[in-house]
Amino acid sequence: MSKIAAPRGMLDILPAESWKWQTVERLAREVSALYHFAEIRTPIFEHTELFHRGVGEASDIVNKEMYTFDDRGGRSITLRPEGTAGVVRAAIDGGLINQEGARAKVFYLGPNFRYERPAAGRYRQHHQFGVEAFGVAEPEQDVECILLQMDFYRRCGVKDLELQVNSLGDRESKQRYRDTLVAFLTPKQAQLSEDSQRRLTTNPLRILDSKDTNDQAAVRGAPPAAESLSDNSHRHFERVQHLLGAAGVTFRVNPNLVRGFDYYTETLWEVTAGGLGAQNAIGGGGRYDNLVEQLGGRPTPGVGFGSGIERLLIALESQGVSLPRPEPKLVWLVSHGDAAREANWKLMAELRAAGIAADMDPSGRSVKSQFKVADREKAAYCVVVGDSELTSDTVVLKRLATAEQSTIPRADLIATLKSD
Ligand code: HAM
Repeated sequence: MSKIAAPRGMLDILPAESWKWQTVERLAREVSALYHFAEIRTPIFEHTELFHRGVGEASDIVNKEMYTFDDRGGRSITLRPEGTAGVVRAAIDGGLINQEGARAKVFYLGPNFRYERPAAGRYRQHHQFGVEAFGVAEPEQDVECILLQMDFYRRCGVKDLELQVNSLGDRESKQRYRDTLVAFLTPKQAQLSEDSQRRLTTNPLRILDSKDTNDQAAVRGAPPAAESLSDNSHRHFERVQHLLGAAGVTFRVNPNLVRGFDYYTETLWEVTAGGLGAQNAIGGGGRYDNLVEQLGGRPTPGVGFGSGIERLLIALESQGVSLPRPEPKLVWLVSHGDAAREANWKLMAELRAAGIAADMDPSGRSVKSQFKVADREKAAYCVVVGDSELTSDTVVLKRLATAEQSTIPRADLIATLKSD
């Protein structure tokens, strides 16, 4: 029979890699707890309308990249392309932000699906660690999210990071900026790529971060978003920069940074990391003060970020940084003969019940091959039992790193392993 391949752009996380994922996820949970963000888990698919209303009709993600299908009840369903819209829906649904003045700080870990052209660092299923903070409109909340994100990278050991920030301002500032940009680009329309000619009416801001060289030439000299900011938005962005500086975070203002979602207002940011090649954005975020209302909630400001786990692991790998690996303390039970194997089967249950990781080969292979497997599985110890150990109620405990071994009473095994 022929093999069945994984769908294009989807990666398996095999046992040799999964400890890295666990480590990164543990660090994400730890840093979230320190900043007082609680975990939220939302469905992997949602009603398609959520993303149309949330992410935006004009965005590339909604237009070209969603996995959308009808379920058996004829409802249009979409695999989530990102985390924010679902979290906002759940925060409204779950009553987290329905009271006047409510505040909620949440984090999430999980997969997202985008029908993109697969490339190094770009997959059709990717995983994000993200946070969303609701209820505080002040710049402190933007900066708390950025600090958490940078702290997470520091704990993972990622180097060579650059934080870029920009501001689109409030709704009116953003509209003013859009108009200014359309006025600037309309005379150059013929120079623009086909996509960007369309964007000129649907989503002109996205022309700014187009990868197309013609588009990049056309936007050179475009008025920066900062010139369209209202006084309030200007003050907000100044304060964000001040707070970042005061916290010792280095950043660069990138006036062309717009990011791919319609929901952003005020501050947005992106972090790039060395060693990632063309897909060098390791994480990005921003403020979305109108999104909760747009999705049917009580008007509530929000801000957050999403950070790609695959890209983080690629960056670490190419930077030669290794994550802390928990020392394996696996005990491998080796049996000489059937009676010993039966005794070891029981002993294995006792060890596990005592919180000690244990395993054995129950198939009756030779002692030599049992030792070989123990080695391959990177066991820390072998516990060897044969007829003489059975008669004397002892076991042979062998430390694989040093090959040193001793015979001890079976009753002392757990205490010995625990104190080692
Ligand atoms: P995003 O910039 O689209 O933002 O994605 C966040 C991160 O996810 C990216 O910086 C990248 O590291 C990773 N990522 C995105 N797409 C892919 C892909 N196809 N393959 C591999 N990695 C990918 C958001 O999703 C927003 N929801 C972030 C946010 C939260 N803004 C406010 N709150």
